[in-house]
Amino acid sequence: MKRLDGKSALITGAGRGIGRGFAEAYLAEGARVAIADIDLELAQETARALGERAYAIQIDVSDQDSIDAAIASVVSHAGKLDILINNAALFDAAETVDITRDSYDRLYAVNVAGTLFTMQAAAKQMIAQGHGGKIINMASQAGRRGESLVLVYCSTKAAVISMTQSAGLNLIKHGINVNAIAPGVVDGAHWDHVDAMFAKLEGKEPGQKKAEVAAGVPAGRFAEPSDLTGMAVFLASSDSDYILSQTYNVDGGQWMS
Ligand SMILES: NC(=O)c1ccc[n+]([C@@H]2O[C@H](COP(=O)([O-])OP(=O)(O)OC[C@H]3O[C@@H](n4cnc5c(N)ncnc54)[C@H](O)[C@@H]3O)[C@@H](O)[C@H]2O)c1
Repeated sequence: MKRLDGKSALITGAGRGIGRGFAEAYLAEGARVAIADIDLELAQETARALGERAYAIQIDVSDQDSIDAAIASVVSHAGKLDILINNAALFDAAETVDITRDSYDRLYAVNVAGTLFTMQAAAKQMIAQGHGGKIINMASQAGRRGESLVLVYCSTKAAVISMTQSAGLNLIKHGINVNAIAPGVVDGAHWDHVDAMFAKLEGKEPGQKKAEVAAGVPAGRFAEPSDLTGMAVFLASSDSDYILSQTYNVDGGQWMS
């Protein structure tokens, strides 16, 4: 028996990167997985590549109608929703004096409101089903302390850690465990984008920021998405039934708490 046999999971931002890695791991553990992304073509490509228990749906986590439609779509495909990973997020970097309201609004709409209201919609569905559930929010080491050029993103991830604490305390009476994962630095398109932004902001060569950051990780390297999947499977499985409101660092030793 696999650890997620018969479970129905929804993973936002699963078209690529860490979310796609989580989907692969959940499928290997026997779950049906909704590959949910704002980029429907990417989600469809990923779902096709991952096999028959994966299916693509479109979601824009900053839009309530889109969230509600995505939950309804999971229920119509899989009959129920047992596991949500709130994984979709946006990144931006700027000098404090250059932060724009547009950047603030976009990041808060996706990383904070998107996490909250997708979590809420999933919890309502899980409560209606009456069998509890598992919700995993994606935080970051960026939520543990500020960074000079990353004020907005860091603050959204601190909000994710705080929302995980409160929602976990509130939803456990329904048998719903809410926890979070705080990765350090994970290789992929997200970090290519970060590296390009720092190249501009700090006058670095392309790839230089990434190399500097990798050298500072106690484990000596960036993570791959597969480095995070053990924790994601554990938090979705019955092994974590007595755990709530926690944020786990999976970061190669970057942060201790
Ligand atoms: N990569 C890292 O180093 C790192 C470190 C710490 C935390 N994280 C967090 O892990 C999560 C995944 O990161 P990643 O590196 O795989 O990111 P990524 O940018 O590679 O992938 C994010 C996915 O989310 C989708 N998306 C964007 N806006 C959306 C929206 N409004 N609705 C639905 N989907 C949307 C994108 O299309 C994309 O497929 C994020 O929450 C990120 O903040 C990443």
